[in-house]
Amino acid sequence: MEKLKVTLKKVLRPDSVRKLKQYQGQLSLAWLRALSRSALMRRIHYAFFSDAFDREARAVIGGHLQHEENQSGAESVNYFLRRAIHRIEKGLIMQPRRDVFAVDYITQTVDSYRDSLVGTVDRDEVSWAHDVLKTYFETTGNHPVISAARTAFQQLESPYSCASSLRHPETERVPFSAYMHTPPVDFESFTALCMRRRSVRWYQDRPVPREVIDNAVAMAVQSPSACNRQPYKFMIFDDAESVAQVSELPMGVAGFSHNFPAMIAVVGRLRAYPHVRDRHVIYIDGALAAMSFMFALETQGVASCSINWPDIPEREDAATKLLRLDADERIVMFISVGYAAEEGLVPYSQKLSLEEARVYSSLGTSGE
Ligand SMILES: Cc1cc2nc3c(=O)[nH]c(=O)nc-3n(C[C@H](O)[C@H](O)[C@H](O)COP(=O)(O)O)c2cc1C
Repeated sequence: MEKLKVTLKKVLRPDSVRKLKQYQGQLSLAWLRALSRSALMRRIHYAFFSDAFDREARAVIGGHLQHEENQSGAESVNYFLRRAIHRIEKGLIMQPRRDVFAVDYITQTVDSYRDSLVGTVDRDEVSWAHDVLKTYFETTGNHPVISAARTAFQQLESPYSCASSLRHPETERVPFSAYMHTPPVDFESFTALCMRRRSVRWYQDRPVPREVIDNAVAMAVQSPSACNRQPYKFMIFDDAESVAQVSELPMGVAGFSHNFPAMIAVVGRLRAYPHVRDRHVIYIDGALAAMSFMFALETQGVASCSINWPDIPEREDAATKLLRLDADERIVMFISVGYAAEEGLVPYSQKLSLEEARVYSSLGTSGE
């Protein structure tokens, strides 16, 4: 195709080339219109003319497979158990609380919990599952399925408990009251933090202590995530050789990547889901966590810049190989991290006005 283009440019007059380009533009617009109107045409297009969604489909299917296989607790996060425990916690906080709930998945949940007790699942995670299941069985009413699951649960040993230090140290990991008289951060402080954070591309030649990055990751995971699945990991590269290699992967860093002290890859894990419908959640949850991560860095005096990861096959292949990603793992974004250089400038980056960004909306009948 490229060769044909070059040859045509050589043999045709410039205005003929221009006309040909116009014709090509009109043709592709007509094709787009047809695709936007017809499901059949779209299927044909993506079956025969474009493989744009192929890698996503492979990752989603690979993730679903891993999700089913990981219920046995073979991995450090059992995403099935994580979601099931979350659903039970939601049942426990319901007003009014139903006497009987979770009947359709409680048996599978106890099975998965049992497997996690002896598997490699994170111990805090298992303790949480234990405490929530214990509360559930203490408070739910009678139902043959629940009674059988209760007996099965009671026959299991408790995991050793390690109290959560941040949330509510002395208590079990069960629903609690979040009522607070005074927020711990006032709006002025938060405004100052938001105004201070800017995408910084020029850094001091100074390493960022791992403790600082660890603090930020620990806060990143406090972000909301769909069904509390936290379907991501933060891969940290902070030695010069790795940073140089990883910085070669994305496109938007030309001319300044050589001064990055550290690079982070936020990697989404599709194994968190059994359903195709949730395939976008890794990007939503990953981005929410990334924002908290960057704010947490700012509070420690460290700057950052989000870096785009467009869906380009060759780059995806290179990244998968270099970062040794599994079939279901997809990059959400990269983040460069470092202490801002004194002499480095930052684009002004005008933000949306309040009027542009917010639309108070009501579905009530207007003008009556
Ligand atoms: C998803 C995402 C991708 C980005 N990709 C790049 C990039 O590839 N290269 C770059 O220099 N900046 C990148 N940025 C930074 C944006 O340019 C920056 O956030 C925007 O201009 C607003 O500036 P501020 O972050 O300083 O407020 C990216 C930001 C986001 C959120």
